Amino acid sequence: MSKILTDIRPVLDHTSCEHVQLLGKWVWGGTGEAVAPTPLLITLIKNGGVLLAAYLPDGPYELDGMVGFVFGFPAHEKDTDGQTVAKHCSHQLAVLPKFRRKGLGLQLKLAQRDAVISQGMTDRITWTFDPLQRVNAIFNFESLGVTSQTYINNAYGNLDDDLNIGLTTDRVQVDWDLTSPRVLRAIAKQKQDTISHKNLYILSEPKTDKDCNVHIPTDEKYVTLAVPLPNKIDNRAKSEQANLSLWRQFLGSALRSAFDKGYTLSGCQELPNIGHHYILIADSKP
Ligand SMILES: CC(C)(COP(=O)(O)OP(=O)(O)OC[C@H]1O[C@@H](n2cnc3c(N)ncnc32)[C@H](O)[C@@H]1OP(=O)(O)O)[C@@H](O)C(=O)NCCC(=O)NCCS
Repeated sequence: MSKILTDIRPVLDHTSCEHVQLLGKWVWGGTGEAVAPTPLLITLIKNGGVLLAAYLPDGPYELDGMVGFVFGFPAHEKDTDGQTVAKHCSHQLAVLPKFRRKGLGLQLKLAQRDAVISQGMTDRITWTFDPLQRVNAIFNFESLGVTSQTYINNAYGNLDDDLNIGLTTDRVQVDWDLTSPRVLRAIAKQKQDTISHKNLYILSEPKTDKDCNVHIPTDEKYVTLAVPLPNKIDNRAKSEQANLSLWRQFLGSALRSAFDKGYTLSGCQELPNIGHHYILIADSKP
């Protein structure tokens, strides 16, 4: 796919916030519940929030050429020692379907990274994504170099938008350590370490509910785990609901037990002849 350079600017006024909302409604559909109202967006961007939009000359006229946006705000959480640490919480990233796969999502995240680093408060961004969404998984782990050790059950309750309707909103929370060697390698498009197939344990795809109580081996020889994820599923198709629920249960069980056993999720890669798999590494943070 050919890449294009976009003009990325901070969103600072009401009209541009309304464009962000309309763009969000086009991307997520439903009643627009997924998109923050303008007064909230304005309050956040006047108080340290970062809302950046990408513009192209052939972007939609109604949006003054806006084709994507990324939005987040300063936040904090407790670390493993119970200390309060600063972070930036990224809430949403969207690119209009017609303009995808041209490098715009990546440019928006890199602009967000620059903005957060220059605020000088933290060098870490977290966000959540739906582990059923293969595109987002590849984008997050392979293009950005995030890692995760956190699975959140039904994070947002029931949502009515096109991607979530009829499903629990389970999410993986990812950590983007903006200056880590792993992230610097990813954004420089350098390869991460190759997976050692010698110590690899590959889980099989779920066929029935019985496959959703996943056993993760404790045998020390398994340094790397590969957990399958579905190929592109149309969340909007009613016929896919049973399949989606099965995958939801399976991935929830597999990822939760792997995190409990100290694995870190650090990749989403295509394995020869068996499709994309989440890659988890034992014990150490890669
Ligand atoms: C996720 C999203 C923002 C990506 O935006 P985008 O502009 O298409 O992404 P980019 O073109 O910058 O892609 C960067 C990389 O992500 C991966 N990627 C993106 N789309 C992909 C696809 N359809 N299939 C496989 N990999 C894909 C690729 O590795 C790609 O690099 P490459 O094109 O050099 O191979 C976009 O698909 C989107 O708006 N989705 C709906 C909203 C959403 O889910 N947001 C949450 C994101 S966590």
